[in-house]
Amino acid sequence: MEKNLDRYIRDHSTPEDKVLEDLYRQTNLYVVNPNMVSGHIQGKLLEMLSHMIHPSVIVEIGTYTGYSAICLSRGLKTGGKLHTIEINDELREMSSRYFDLAGVSDKVILHTGRAQDVVPALNFIFDLVFIDGDKREYCEYYNLVFEKVRKGGFIIADNVLWGGKIENEDAMNDPQTRGVINFNELIRNDSRVEKILLALRDGLMIIRKK
Ligand SMILES: C[S@@+](CC[C@H](N)C(=O)[O-])C[C@H]1O[C@@H](n2cnc3c(N)ncnc32)[C@H](O)[C@@H]1O
Repeated sequence: MEKNLDRYIRDHSTPEDKVLEDLYRQTNLYVVNPNMVSGHIQGKLLEMLSHMIHPSVIVEIGTYTGYSAICLSRGLKTGGKLHTIEINDELREMSSRYFDLAGVSDKVILHTGRAQDVVPALNFIFDLVFIDGDKREYCEYYNLVFEKVRKGGFIIADNVLWGGKIENEDAMNDPQTRGVINFNELIRNDSRVEKILLALRDGLMIIRKK
């Protein structure tokens, strides 16, 4: 039943283009932990949100193979830039190749390193941040970017439902689950922002700085 619904959703959404389809396939064939890639429906939502926000500057934490970066970059203002940060230098060749194939390499700046080291060196205001790095570090990323996000700007965080494990008390023993739960509580109690938790894929938290 759910599979049919998934197909219905895909059939009534703009199809994945050839470059993203190929990137998704190559990621699944050749890269470790391919379940981390955004994929068609989440990618399309990120692209839509980016078009709505129409940002000049996007910062992404966790490039992986570049799928979400390509989607988000499509909503940038002319001359706008997406800074994407990836700690694993082995992924650089693949993501760069797909930025070229997708025709976005002139607006995507790939930083290889830890977000904790790179973000402090980005001396400009962010319109949109996508948090999709190590779940244990979500609170750290949020605190790191917050002052650099403009008033009215957005922070989107992926995997905030963490496969449903956030509901399981025992799961607090697992550092990644604890990271996601702590992040969700931090956002819930932060009166400086408005937020909506969307139950799409593994959960997307959309946060707007008041
Ligand atoms: C879930 S994947 C990102 C998926 C990608 N955003 C997408 O939607 O296709 C998470 C990535 O974050 C990277 N990462 C983990 N900790 C990081 C850190 N502190 N700084 C930068 N990247 C980090 C990992 O190496 C991994 O490639």
